[in-house]
Amino acid sequence: MNSRAQTTLLTGISELRTVSELGTINDAAVIIEDGRIAWVGAQSAAPAADEASDLGGRAVLPGWVDSHTHMVFAGSRAEEFEARMAGEDYAAGGIAVTMEATRSAGPDALEGLLRERIAAAHAGGTTTLETKTGYGLDVASELAAAELAARYVDEVTFLGAHLVPPGAETEEYVDLVVGEMLDAVAPHVGWIDVFCERGAFTEEQSRRVLEAGRRQGLGLRVHGNQLGPGAGVRLAVELGAASVDHVNYVTDADVAALAGSETVATILPACDLSTRQPLAPGRQLLDAGVHVAIASNLNPGTSYTSSMNFCVATAVLQQHFTLDEAIHAATTGGARALRRHDVGGGLDPQGRPAKGTIAVGASADLHVLTSTHAIDLAYRPGMPLTWQTYHAGELVSAWQLPQYPTNLPPRKA
Ligand code: NIG
Repeated sequence: MNSRAQTTLLTGISELRTVSELGTINDAAVIIEDGRIAWVGAQSAAPAADEASDLGGRAVLPGWVDSHTHMVFAGSRAEEFEARMAGEDYAAGGIAVTMEATRSAGPDALEGLLRERIAAAHAGGTTTLETKTGYGLDVASELAAAELAARYVDEVTFLGAHLVPPGAETEEYVDLVVGEMLDAVAPHVGWIDVFCERGAFTEEQSRRVLEAGRRQGLGLRVHGNQLGPGAGVRLAVELGAASVDHVNYVTDADVAALAGSETVATILPACDLSTRQPLAPGRQLLDAGVHVAIASNLNPGTSYTSSMNFCVATAVLQQHFTLDEAIHAATTGGARALRRHDVGGGLDPQGRPAKGTIAVGASADLHVLTSTHAIDLAYRPGMPLTWQTYHAGELVSAWQLPQYPTNLPPRKA
């Protein structure tokens, strides 16, 4: 009996951005086998496969790796947003509004919302997602969020330390987070995070949270330096966090510390625009040799979008990334922030198929654009550029190019 998996040959790739040592290959082909990339190269050299699909002369890149989202929530904060556009400042306290809506939504509604959000992310070319708890803020609700997220999302982060819920006493709440809440949630998550910021948690409280998570075997992430200078970056580097996210207000010492570390600086361009914070200094971080990731930060308070295409366009147009740098940051950069990056042979540090790269052995996560060249991501911002998305070799999203309506005559016949 032949137990070899079915192979699929994708041809008609005008420009293949591998984000691996293979660089960019024009007129390329890819073979997928058992959810992984089995072969990559020039179409003229492609071996035969069991089935073939012609992508019609389109650009292909790895699926986006969105390493920072808050997808488990209910409700909207459109009014808060509108007030901000009229001049109000963003403050952490708005998290409590989403906490109320999330607690009252019920498990079925939350599951439906999460599934819709994942489908929308796929439709935008995203194939790997991290998401956080953090809108439950009591033991039962945080546990429910973690269990739900773990059923659907690649990487789940415990963010009980998002805000001290209204009415709670801060030190008692931190005790709860590092005690009963962490014990309950830890079996369902791989990461712990803390909002180390004015109006949320102090450096000492953040340290307690992160150290408690580390004792439970969780990887560390930090929300830091979002609303002003602070301890977030320093703490993240000191404790060996995989990522410190936001980094809008960094000192030269913060940049130097990041540059000498394995901690990724994750920038969140859509959030910066939506909160009217200065854009994170992505160019400065890259120039200093810092590992940089770009993520969407999907959440109802500061960044109600999962569009990585938009974030990449913003990084190029406004943060002075080259397209290549932005694609790296939004693919293998995000994978590094989740410790899922390629460390050789298409494998990640744990020996799983790597994310965010097109290399033999890596997960067959592909983003097929509607256009021939990936530069269109910045050159034609806001246009519908995602055509198909493959997750572990499966087509998870396909979009039809719009046709001129047959019932509408040309304006000038
Ligand atoms: O990453 N900064 C903290 N957490 C979210 C926003 C949460 C909210 O306002 O609902 C963020 O921006």
